[in-house]
Amino acid sequence: MLELINVAKNYESPGRTGQLCVLKDITLKVETGSSVVIVGPSGSGKSTLLNIIGALDRPSAGKVLFDGKDLAALGEIELARIRNRQIGFVFQLHHLLPQCTVLENVLVPTLAEKNRVSKKEVRERAVNLLERVGLKDWMLYRPGELSGGQRQRVAVVRALINRPKLLLADEPTGSLDEASSQNIADLLVELNRSEDVAMIVVTHSVKLAERIGHVMELSDGILTDKGRR
Ligand SMILES: Nc1ncnc2c1ncn2[C@@H]1O[C@H](COP(=O)(O)OP(=O)(O)O)[C@@H](O)[C@H]1O
Ligand SMILES: [Mg+2]
Repeated sequence: MLELINVAKNYESPGRTGQLCVLKDITLKVETGSSVVIVGPSGSGKSTLLNIIGALDRPSAGKVLFDGKDLAALGEIELARIRNRQIGFVFQLHHLLPQCTVLENVLVPTLAEKNRVSKKEVRERAVNLLERVGLKDWMLYRPGELSGGQRQRVAVVRALINRPKLLLADEPTGSLDEASSQNIADLLVELNRSEDVAMIVVTHSVKLAERIGHVMELSDGILTDKGRR
């Protein structure tokens, strides 16, 4: 489903001569419905890698194939469509809209997809997912009235509302306490199975990593396989 072939990423480094080489040679294959966890020190390029996979950024060299399609060959409109339909994003901070209710926040990604599914169907899916993550009684609350863990669960539901094939989560538990982090990790594992969505999760916590999926480590611009448990 997703394949990275010899992906590299350089940034111009202001004030220094030469370039900052963040990703050197990344080759990665992610099968439909599988779950990959990326660990690595701060600054090792985990977010850069996730942004490239999610078509938010382009590699300096190499290829990213999504369903066999080379992302570099696609125009902005087609990329935007893939980002909205096929890929769900969860960030360290939830990025929910403070003035909207939990339910409204979850429905935001469906606004650009008006003609694909009926409003009723989409609403039913939103309510169903919110129930499954334990937020049935919180649907009409605003993000400011929720705990950090609850907000992150809303962000996960929002990322899944359009039934993406791939969920990208960049340190989704980075601002949560231990108990809420485990809760989110367990939720990701459950949704990975029940929604048949592939996941790439970046985390600092080695303990959580092993819980979630197949562990890979990013270090010195290279991704190495750490296996499972
Ligand atoms: N847009 C950018 N321009 C220049 N350098 C960047 C940019 N984004 C990230 N970097 C640099 O790339 C390196 C990796 O960053 P990042 O991918 O955020 O790492 P991680 O998520 O693993 O902490 C860091 O040294 C960072 O300063
Ligand atoms: Mg990061």
